[in-house]
Amino acid sequence: MKDDDARKPEATSRVSRRDFMKLSAVTAAIPLVLGPKVVEAAGEEVEVHGPGKVPVTLNVNGKKLSAELEPRVTLLDALRGNFDLTGAKRVCDRGACGACTVLLDGKPVYACSVLAIDAQGGKITTIEALAEGGKLSPVMAAFVEHDAQQCGFCTPGFVVATTHFLQQHPTPSADDIRRGLNGNYCRCGTYNGIRAVALARAGGKQS
Ligand code: FES
Ligand code: FES
Repeated sequence: MKDDDARKPEATSRVSRRDFMKLSAVTAAIPLVLGPKVVEAAGEEVEVHGPGKVPVTLNVNGKKLSAELEPRVTLLDALRGNFDLTGAKRVCDRGACGACTVLLDGKPVYACSVLAIDAQGGKITTIEALAEGGKLSPVMAAFVEHDAQQCGFCTPGFVVATTHFLQQHPTPSADDIRRGLNGNYCRCGTYNGIRAVALARAGGKQS
């Protein structure tokens, strides 16, 4: 009986050993970083990136930072793993705790829940940029003064969120602060200190 099992290489291959060696040399010369494929979906052309590495350039703290990243890499992992910006912390890694908070185009985002490739073109600000000239920002100094941290894992996210909140709400009430910072969690329970920071910066009193 004729053996025509298509899974067997000898049944399908018309490539000689010499051809195979030539082909391998060509394949090895193709860069591992490829541009996007374009496929049609629901009548529209859609770019498909990866799964291999693709060039990614981010605007972080006023600098252009480039790396070759798989499209699945989050902004948080790119900042920490590729650009040595370790201020934003990886705690839950699922958009629940706020420890990874950075600003993207001036708005707080969970960096663990944004793909680095999607953050291209945006202006990213991390906690590293809030301390200018090696000096604590006023909000950072208030965290120290009001003893608003213990283990410190949530602190960078809270500092970024508090700084943004106070820019948007210069004279908040205690309730405003509770609501405005409710996207960040502190396992050590430093909430009273953090609210005192926000009230002190706003010139109010703790309640
Ligand atoms: S680490 Fe991103 S929200 Fe918790
Ligand atoms: S200071 Fe430890 S989690 Fe907030």
